[in-house]
Amino acid sequence: MAFGPSPSPGAEPGGPAGLATRRPLRPAWAEIDLDAVHANVRALRGVAAPASLLAVVKADAYGHGAARVARAAVEAGAWGLGVATVDEGTELRRAGIDAPILVLGAIGPDEAATALAHDLRLTVAEETVAAAASLAAAAARREARLHLKVDTGMGRLGVASDDAAALAARVAALPHVTLEGCSTHFASADDPDLGSAARQLEIFMGTLRALERAGVRPALRHAANSAATLALPGARLDLVRCGLALYGVAPAPHLVGRAELRPVMRLCARVVHRKRVPPGTPIGYGHAFRTTRETTVITLPVGYADGYPRAAGEGCTVWLHGRCAPIAGRVSMDQITVDAADAPVALGDVVELWGAAVPVEIVARAARTIPYEVLARTARRVPRVYLDGGRVVAVRTLLGEE
Ligand SMILES: Cc1ncc(COP(=O)(O)O)c(C=O)c1O
Repeated sequence: MAFGPSPSPGAEPGGPAGLATRRPLRPAWAEIDLDAVHANVRALRGVAAPASLLAVVKADAYGHGAARVARAAVEAGAWGLGVATVDEGTELRRAGIDAPILVLGAIGPDEAATALAHDLRLTVAEETVAAAASLAAAAARREARLHLKVDTGMGRLGVASDDAAALAARVAALPHVTLEGCSTHFASADDPDLGSAARQLEIFMGTLRALERAGVRPALRHAANSAATLALPGARLDLVRCGLALYGVAPAPHLVGRAELRPVMRLCARVVHRKRVPPGTPIGYGHAFRTTRETTVITLPVGYADGYPRAAGEGCTVWLHGRCAPIAGRVSMDQITVDAADAPVALGDVVELWGAAVPVEIVARAARTIPYEVLARTARRVPRVYLDGGRVVAVRTLLGEE
């Protein structure tokens, strides 16, 4: 039996195996389709133009692997990259990526020197952080490029819109500082009712006019996440910040089809065990499932410790032999059991847990969560198999990349 990833992202279960890795991989992996990253970047740039695209690759590129995705996004024309923390930005610099990187999250003043050393742009909402960045820039003999974050209704990170112009003027006057950007973030641009997002945008535009009256005009005004990029043209401004759509997932059902997006991740596993069982056979922890007829139950070596949500077990399906097969019983930490009925399953057959056939949105819905969380929780121990032009170009495991 040949184990390891199948050679192409679209391979049907049972397709030939064939990854030439130096050592065998575990029979569960996530295929990351870099062609799809390219295509999604191109599609989003097309929608956003003339605005530029910031590819949001925080949280290890929503579980896909930050360095590989970042490189692909920049190759496909993303202006820059968005991360949440200074460490995430540093990781990209260490991987040799020299595109603009904006830290979207709040940092502590004591992180400014590290951020500047790695040429990271910073989001600021506090004067103390801007002052720390100014001092760090002087010490590093470079310019700190700062983006002022304005709270227009999200209620999370950002200076109150009424106070923004005064703070912007003080930040812009700091030595070794360029106030390169001004940003805000929408609370509900993924709602079919765009009323709230439109009000936030109105407040943001008013804030930008106030900045201008105070003599500050940042070159990069940005507000739109994936949903606003797709649904609210007025929010695109100079730069859009897309995360979820970059990974080929629409931020809400009504936004499907607004851009041609291809799912980037396909979580796969091989059948590692199968057996024919009689009616009335209890399966898994708590015997939460009991067969009602003679059937084939298969075991997949993936569980909630790999990122497959335990809560999705009830009611979710996997893709096996060209059709959906229901998960049978509780998802364990490292294993899942599936009712394969009478499918002619062979040991080593490939099953898709999410991807093109089983959209990750379905898994998220079954787990009563959002696709962001499902993707971002794909565990480190799941090998990432990177495909480019249908060929495996790299594999990242717990032990590093090869
Ligand atoms: C400030 C900011 N901008 C943009 C994004 C990207 O959002 P999305 O993945 O919905 O495109 C995020 C993600 O949460 C964010 O925090």
